[in-house]
Amino acid sequence: MTSSVHPSSSSLLTREGDEKYANVNWEELGFALIPTDYMYVAKCKQGESFSEGKIVPYGDISISPCAAIFNHGQGIFEGLKAYRTEDERITLFRPDQNGLRMQNGADRLCMTPPSVEQFVEAVKQTVLANKKWVPPPGKGTLYVRPLLIGSGPMLGIASAPEYTFLVYVSPVAEYHKVSSGPLNLEVNDKYRRSHAGGTGGVKSCINYCPIVKPVLEAKSAGFSDILFLDAATGRNIEEISTCNIFIVKGNIVSTPPISGTILPGITRKSIIELARDISYQVQERDVSVDELLEAEEVFCTGTATVVKAVETVTFHEKRVKYKTGEEALSTKLYTMLTNIQMGVVEDKKGWVVEIDGCHD
Ligand code: COI
Repeated sequence: MTSSVHPSSSSLLTREGDEKYANVNWEELGFALIPTDYMYVAKCKQGESFSEGKIVPYGDISISPCAAIFNHGQGIFEGLKAYRTEDERITLFRPDQNGLRMQNGADRLCMTPPSVEQFVEAVKQTVLANKKWVPPPGKGTLYVRPLLIGSGPMLGIASAPEYTFLVYVSPVAEYHKVSSGPLNLEVNDKYRRSHAGGTGGVKSCINYCPIVKPVLEAKSAGFSDILFLDAATGRNIEEISTCNIFIVKGNIVSTPPISGTILPGITRKSIIELARDISYQVQERDVSVDELLEAEEVFCTGTATVVKAVETVTFHEKRVKYKTGEEALSTKLYTMLTNIQMGVVEDKKGWVVEIDGCHD
């Protein structure tokens, strides 16, 4: 994982004039912005429908200093990926689910969202316009970041008079890089991410800034990431800074329920289905820290993270080690999921959406 803009975007440039691919050193991809050629922008007045958006050159946008997003954080974002398959198709994974999640978030934050159809169309257009930035198979994916912001001015606390829906993309590797090995998590008992009735269950921009400090503290103590506990009791696990968590014991896979305080992950939902397909019993229920410490295996899921094994969890002075590697369920589920996403196996679930017109 790296910071916002790739430290040396220009050093990623390799050779000029290759039309199939942008000049990127694909071996060095991390999870940091590499600006691409185009983005999608659409606007609408509060309560009206979004105009047909436009693909425009990627770059800064101009909005009022009094915009609701700047002043009280009225914004939600999504994250999904475009994949280049071995047979040169460009595909998306369940983009309608992201469109629906944006609608739920918009409802919670009193924003006007694009329709699911417009959302998916905007994602397709943006990926197609930036097709040469989709990494070669096996080297990474094109991360797609749809953003809905209150762009109209609002001095008091109310919903903005105007909304901007934009989509930009960046080639990325997995968030917690495969080469960096399994995760060593700290259970965080000092900060809380979310509370009942708040916005923890939607992908609101305001959920993310407050987790930067706890994550930095955990990193400086040598951990790779942190796991938050529930605000009500401090006894149950909720989610990692940017992904959902699962524990495995015997044939039972358990994960915290979608009850408004954790993000309803699309990878989470897909992994639940895949685990059931191979005869695991999956329980969506409160999972206590005690159970976490007694689990055989722990892993996390997310669009940026994909499926990642957890090697150790530390809670107060106690450190527990879990099963990882070839024998771990997370390895099997990772392979099942990415084989569908990369077109290695037939998609029997209708999850993969091919973007038309991609063949050279
Ligand atoms: C994603 O997995 O798409 C996320 O949104 C996490 C992100 C904040 C890196």
